[in-house]
Amino acid sequence: PPLNEILNLFDFEAVASQLSAAEAWSYFSCGANDEISYRENHNAFHRIWLRPRVMRDVSHIDMSTKILGHDSSFPLYITATAMAKLGHPEGEVLLTRAAHSHGIIQMIPSFGSCSLEEMTSAREKGQIQFYQLYVNKNRNIARKVIQTAQENGCKAFFITVDVSVIGRREKDMQIKYDGALPNIIDENNENDNYLRRDQGASGVAASLIDPSFNWNDLKWIRSITSLPIVIKGIQTLEDAILAAEYGCDGIVLSNHGGRQLDFAPSAIEILPEVVESLKKLGLFDKIEIYIDGGIRRGTDIFKAIALGAKAVGLGRPLLYAMSSYGQVGVEHALQILKDELEITMRLSGANTLADICPEMVDIKNLTNH
Ligand code: FNR
Repeated sequence: PPLNEILNLFDFEAVASQLSAAEAWSYFSCGANDEISYRENHNAFHRIWLRPRVMRDVSHIDMSTKILGHDSSFPLYITATAMAKLGHPEGEVLLTRAAHSHGIIQMIPSFGSCSLEEMTSAREKGQIQFYQLYVNKNRNIARKVIQTAQENGCKAFFITVDVSVIGRREKDMQIKYDGALPNIIDENNENDNYLRRDQGASGVAASLIDPSFNWNDLKWIRSITSLPIVIKGIQTLEDAILAAEYGCDGIVLSNHGGRQLDFAPSAIEILPEVVESLKKLGLFDKIEIYIDGGIRRGTDIFKAIALGAKAVGLGRPLLYAMSSYGQVGVEHALQILKDELEITMRLSGANTLADICPEMVDIKNLTNH
């Protein structure tokens, strides 16, 4: 269908499921095991109802915000997703350009299919990119990756901590992948899995991630970069508190799009308890909280903001839009979400993001399921 007939993010998914190559569809859409967490990520939003306020002057709506001090036209960033070239020959740079047209931030993946330099040089003047870091087993390589990302102008590190081992993604495991991952430094050729390409796209890269990486290693990362450090993949309030106590600048509540541990909770479900405990401990103002997983509607963004998130990350829908329609598809997807958020704010009586308060959502059924 022509792009102007695509009315929401689910439409993109339906088109991509028809048009994409099998390996792209399997890799992008898969979740771990029975895909319970994957489905729950969006479904959890259905248990939150809105409490719209009326008769407020909503003639002017401002959705702009700052993420780690950087401007964003609305409270959403493009999260890191590996291997975009499976879906489109140009790959991640299309997301970079679409991020620029919408004035939002892109998080560059460690395992992008474009090289780091391609992704950073696709940036326009003033455009902001963050870097998603998988910490390599070899600390010399890890250091080099951090330094290179920094030299190429990335403005923060999002360290992904929910991949100590790759989740079992059965759809993806059926696919034999053979493609380049230009950013993987494998100097000593010591990672045998790298060469074993029969475990789906995910298996190719996973063996390079250090399973011993732990809280004490944050000091080491801190010693080699002064950029903000955000932990991506926090799934409990205990770890959210630890991240704040260790002085991280932010956390992403995330179960990796349901691709890692099946039955890990959805981010939106744990957001209220995380916010409550950080507030009690006086840590809430020290850290920015983002969530990702299952964001598909403007109302989803609204609910996350109401419950204390600074911004949300968006993954699969942009890959689907990119695979089927290229850069203009991604731009259209982002425009849809912007329009939906704006309508939600108008109809709820919120002029700015600061007006979106916890009283505008009803979460009494959120954890009753
Ligand atoms: C991801 N995700 C991810 N995260 C990360 O930190 N590094 C990575 O390389 C990848 N790669 C990746 C590939 C694909 C195809 C998907 C779908 C996801 C996880 C991603 O950043 C994010 O947590 C989820 O995608 C959010 O869920 P939604 O928006 O896809 O529902």
